[in-house]
Amino acid sequence: MSQELVGAIQQHINLELEASMTYLSMSIWCAERELAGFYKFFSAESAEERGHAIQFADYLVARAQRNDLQPLQAPCQNWSKLEDVVFSSFRMEADTTSSIQHLYSIAERENDVRTTVFLDPLLEQQIGSEDQYAYLHGRIKFADNDSTALLVIDGEVRSGLTSR
Ligand SMILES: [Fe+2]
Repeated sequence: MSQELVGAIQQHINLELEASMTYLSMSIWCAERELAGFYKFFSAESAEERGHAIQFADYLVARAQRNDLQPLQAPCQNWSKLEDVVFSSFRMEADTTSSIQHLYSIAERENDVRTTVFLDPLLEQQIGSEDQYAYLHGRIKFADNDSTALLVIDGEVRSGLTSR
C-alpha cells in the first residue's frame, strides 16, 4: 500500500471517531430535552461510527500497516433546535462519504482491488446514511419547530422509523 493511501485511511479513522463523539454529544443534547427517540437513535449512531473506525483500524492491521491515532477535536455541543442537530448530521455524513470516495479514488489509481472491495459495502452504507438524514431533516423542517409535531417525529424515531 502507498503511504498516500495509508495516510488517507489514518485520517479517515479520525473522522469516524470525531463523528462518534459528535453523535454522543447529540445524544446528550436530546437526552437533556427528553427526546427519547432521538437520544436512542444518536446513541446507536455514535456506536456505529466507532465500529467503522475499528473496521478501518483492523484493515490497516490486516494489511500490515501502522495505525496513527491523533487527538480528537471537541465536538459541537450547542445547537439551538433539533433541525440544526439533524442538518449537522447530514453534513457530517456527506463529509464522510467524500472521504471514503477519496480513499476509493486513490485505491483505484493504485489498482489496489483489495481496498476497493473493502470500501464497496462501506460506501453503500454511507449513501444510505445520507438518505436517512435527508429524510429526517425534511420531516423536521416541515414540523417548523412545532413541539407537538417534533414529539410525533421523536416517537416515530423511537420505534425505528427513520427512512421513507
Ligand atoms: Fe461512519
